[in-house]
Amino acid sequence: MDASSGGFAGRFAGTTVVVTGSGSGIGAQTVRRFAAEGAVVVVADINLAAAQHVAAGIPGALARHVDVTRRASLRALADAVAAEHGGIDVLVNNALSCSLPPFLELSDAQIQADFAVNAIGPFMACQEVIPSMLARGGGVILNVASVNALSTYGNPAYSAAKAALISLTRSLAFEFGGRGIRCNAVAPGTIDTEHWAPRLALEPDLFERAARWYPTGRVGSTDDVASALLFLASHEAAWINGITLPVEGGLLSGDLGLTRELAPDPDGKSTKG
Ligand SMILES: NC(=O)c1ccc[n+]([C@@H]2O[C@H](COP(=O)([O-])OP(=O)(O)OC[C@H]3O[C@@H](n4cnc5c(N)ncnc54)[C@H](O)[C@@H]3O)[C@@H](O)[C@H]2O)c1
Repeated sequence: MDASSGGFAGRFAGTTVVVTGSGSGIGAQTVRRFAAEGAVVVVADINLAAAQHVAAGIPGALARHVDVTRRASLRALADAVAAEHGGIDVLVNNALSCSLPPFLELSDAQIQADFAVNAIGPFMACQEVIPSMLARGGGVILNVASVNALSTYGNPAYSAAKAALISLTRSLAFEFGGRGIRCNAVAPGTIDTEHWAPRLALEPDLFERAARWYPTGRVGSTDDVASALLFLASHEAAWINGITLPVEGGLLSGDLGLTRELAPDPDGKSTKG
């Protein structure tokens, strides 16, 4: 379903949705999809020009600068949305920092950046937004984690920070579920976004190679993740709280590499195991 198909037209009418890191990738498609279903969306990104570009394509959307690693910036965003729209109904913590070096080569700055953007930023954003959600009678918080938090795929600082984000998801669900706020996470697998552009420039067949490890035979799209986020934000998910929903084509359901390695030869006579 694309952003214009309006499968649930009006499902989010009257709601204000803020998505961090929505100047690109999953966040950009998520604001398009929320807007297509009636929400007022705030495109919030450290790259204001990117946020403005995305917002320009969405009727009624607002672009805002935010650096999720800075509390003052998060507070300014929450205050501005409260002044203009009365408050935030749905907050999606989606901004990304993912350092590539292996464990022993990660610098202090890379470790701190991955934790600041993926874990501490969402933690502070929730502290800034939840009081007004409580005052308004409730809200929804969605955290974009990763399969990296649930198994091992490299990027150790990023993965540990995403695991912290999943823990935060449970804590918020537990503490605020009785006061009208639901908090859930999604854990995407490999998603075709701008994040991968530098790697794809060097390895154009990267997604074809990655797709071999996905039981569904492809990597994911931004719509795959946006669909899950919209469901978790919707009334259909009213009794879903504190979960992490994998959006990964079955990647975590087993080990496709080992399964293929142990499979009998086509003649059925021998196994490799
Ligand atoms: N693409 C994937 O394969 C994949 C897989 C699993 C999880 N995810 C998660 O999905 C989310 C979105 O990833 P994406 O692939 O769309 O990334 P992307 O690189 O396309 O977009 C990330 C956005 O975050 C913004 N950003 C970075 N630092 C920021 C900060 N301090 N404050 C505010 N904004 C900041 C960037 O400017 C950018 O617009 C991330 O949380 C990522 O961990 C992505």
